[in-house]
This record gives sequence, C-alpha cells and structure tokens, in this order.
Amino acid sequence: MARIIDGKKIALGIRQGLKTEVEQLTQERGVVPGLAVVLVGANPASQVYVRMKKKACEEVGIASFSHELPVDTTELTLLALVEQLNQDSKVHGILVQLPLPKQISEQKVIEAISPAKDVDGFHPYSSGQLMTGGPGFWPCTPWGVMELLRVEGVDPSGKTAVVIGRSNIVGKPVALMLLAAHATVTICHSRTPDLPKVVRGADIVIAAVGRPRMVKGDWIKEGAIVIDVGTNRLDDGSLCGDVDFDAASKHAAAISPSPGGVGPMTIAMLVKNTVESAKASSAIS
Ligand code: GUN
Repeated sequence: MARIIDGKKIALGIRQGLKTEVEQLTQERGVVPGLAVVLVGANPASQVYVRMKKKACEEVGIASFSHELPVDTTELTLLALVEQLNQDSKVHGILVQLPLPKQISEQKVIEAISPAKDVDGFHPYSSGQLMTGGPGFWPCTPWGVMELLRVEGVDPSGKTAVVIGRSNIVGKPVALMLLAAHATVTICHSRTPDLPKVVRGADIVIAAVGRPRMVKGDWIKEGAIVIDVGTNRLDDGSLCGDVDFDAASKHAAAISPSPGGVGPMTIAMLVKNTVESAKASSAIS
C-alpha cells in the first residue's frame, strides 16, 4: 500500500516556520506583512477559500485587509481598488479571488496588480519569470505540489512526469516547475490519445483536471508518486479528488489524498509568498 502524503501536516509545519520568520521581521525591522484579500460577489466556494486564507495569515502574524465588494461592481471600480492597494505600503500582497463576475475581465485585473505584490503568481510577468527561470512569485498550488514532492524526498531529476490538465493556474506552471527540476514532462489534456497508456509510463503523476476519480488505479505504474490536485464536490455534498484514491493506493509508492493533500499547501505557499514580499520590500539596499 502507498504511503499517504499528509499535506495538512506538511502545510502546518510550513506555517509554523513562517510564524517565527514573521516574528523576527516584525521585531527586527518593524515590518508587519500585509495581505489584501479582495472578494467580489458571494460565490460560496470563494467565500470559504477567502476565509481560510485570511485565517492562515492572521495565525502567522500577517495583517489581512479584507475588501468585499458587491456582485455588480464595475471593472473600473475594481481596477481603482487594485491601484490603491498597489500604492499602499502596508500591503505586501494582493489577492483578488477568482472567478470574478462576468462584467469584469479577469485578465485586466490580474495585469493591474503590481508584479511586486502578485503573491498569487498569476501576473504575466510572474509567469514569464517562471518560464525563463528568473526571480518572481510562483503560483501557490503548483508550488505546493513541488513542496510536497520535496518534503517526501522525491527528486524529479531524471524521472518521467505526466501532468493531466493544462490550466494556467496549475497544469502549465507545474509542468514548467517539474521541467526546471529536470524531469521529462508530458502535459496531457482532453484530446490526448490513450491517456491511460501515457499515465502508465509516469514515475510522477500530477492530476489537475477537475473530474472526480477520473484517474483509475490500473493507470498507475507500480511505485509511482501520485499528487492529486483536484477537489471535486459530488452530488451527496462530499469532496473527492481526480484520482481513484483507494485503487491507485494499491500501485503507487506514495499518494496525496484529496481533500487533505494539495489544498492546505496552496494556502501555506500564499502565506510564504506574502512573507517573502514583505521581506523584499524592507530589504536593506
Ligand atoms: N480561485 C481558485 N483558486 C484560486 C487561487 O489560488 N487564487 C485566486 N486568487 N483565486 C482562486
């Protein structure tokens, strides 16, 4: 049976380390890291995520500045708020929760955030830096995946990695991160022929498609490492991942569950990006 990769525990360890860093930053340099969290409308899932992010920040000593706007907020109003937050020296990170209502262009809003405060890592500058190996914020979910591998002692170098899903938020960036870690990477999607065969060739499988239990147990090579990024709500209200966990556990060497795997890591890495941003803003030059 596979070892279970406990994302909850690993994320807790990261947050504890960050708490100490924040205490030092505050005592030694008088800097309190600040995260602005912007929520437009009342999407129930977004409300839950935003609450969890604010709570995680407050627990490590980061100030969180909440901006809850009505669902009919105009693009101009939101862009003006982002600009105000860009100028605010108490704010080191800006998080605009997605999705946004349809009258607002997500791309325009993402591009309005100063890359120096782009703790979500969604700005094209940040993506470009990730692609070319320059300094910049890494998006939180794929970075959380890489941290799970690192803490588990899985070095992607020389291994084959298959990423299922090609989203801008997870699939594409995690593929770039694995490539930078010297894996041989295949990105699969809905038009990939014979997906089970491709997955069977992988030492590392990253599932990020958003389809409940789509990845079957017999797709997993004996001894592979499986990271399940999916969080899908079933009709009975329960949550499950993109991987058939029980069946895949019979073949994998290690597997992350969902929930309790990548989800907590996303939040931990957001906290880490915010602390790094605050440190950079107060760096002695
Ligand atoms: N919506 C779903 N995931 C995310 C995320 O990581 N950041 C933001 N801003 N919105 C999201």
